[in-house]
Amino acid sequence: MPNLIIAIDGTLASGKGTLARFLSSEYELPHLDTGLLYRALAALALKTSVALDDEDALADKAETLNLAEFDEADLRTAEVGQAASKVAAYPKVRKALFELQREFAFQDGGAVLDGRDIGTVVCPEAHVKIWVDADIRTRAERRVAELNAKGDPITVDEMLEQLEERDKRDRTRDVAPMRPADDAHLLDTSHLSIDAAKEEARHIVDRVR
Ligand code: C5P
Repeated sequence: MPNLIIAIDGTLASGKGTLARFLSSEYELPHLDTGLLYRALAALALKTSVALDDEDALADKAETLNLAEFDEADLRTAEVGQAASKVAAYPKVRKALFELQREFAFQDGGAVLDGRDIGTVVCPEAHVKIWVDADIRTRAERRVAELNAKGDPITVDEMLEQLEERDKRDRTRDVAPMRPADDAHLLDTSHLSIDAAKEEARHIVDRVR
C-alpha cells in the first residue's frame, strides 16, 4: 500500500480542486482531478455523434479515454460540466473509469485524487479523506467570478440554478452518489480565505499521517 493516498471529495466550487492541487504540491504527490475524466468524456460526446444518453457508446469511449488529448480550458466550461454530470450518472461509464482511477491512487508513493466518490467508492482505503463544502451562494459567487474573468457573462442567479441542478443530480443518482465518507474530515470553506482553507487541509493531513 502506498504511504499516502489523499481523497478529496466535495461539491462544485467548494474549493476542493484548489486544495487538492495545494496538497499535491505540499506532499509532492501526483494529482488526478477525476472530474476531468467525466468532463473529457462529455466533451468527446458533444463533439462526435455519441448521444449523451447512449450509455453503451459512452462506456466504450470511456475505456480508451486519454486525458492528454484534451485541452483543459475546453473541459472547464459550464456546458461541458453539465454534460459531465449526465454521463457520470451511468453505471457502465463509472465502471469503465474505475480501474484507471484505482491505478492512479495506488502508484508508488501515493497520490491525491479529487472528485465526488473517491473516499466512498474509488478509494475507500485512502489514508486521509476530506469532504469540502461551502454554502451554495458562496460557491455560486466564486464560480461566477471565475467565469466572468474568462469572459463568460453568466450571473449569480443563473449559476445558483445550475449548481442546484448539478448538486441534485450528483447527490441523487443511484450509483456512487456524491456524499461524504463516514470517516471523512469535513472542511467548510464558506468563511475561510484560500490560505486559511489550505492551512486547515494541511493540519488534517498532518494529524492523520
Ligand atoms: O468536479 P467537476 O465539476 O469537474 O466534475 C464534473 C462532473 O463529473 C460532476 O458534476 C460529477 O457529476 C462528475 N464527477 C463524478 N465523480 C467524480 C468526479 C466528477 O461523478 N469522482
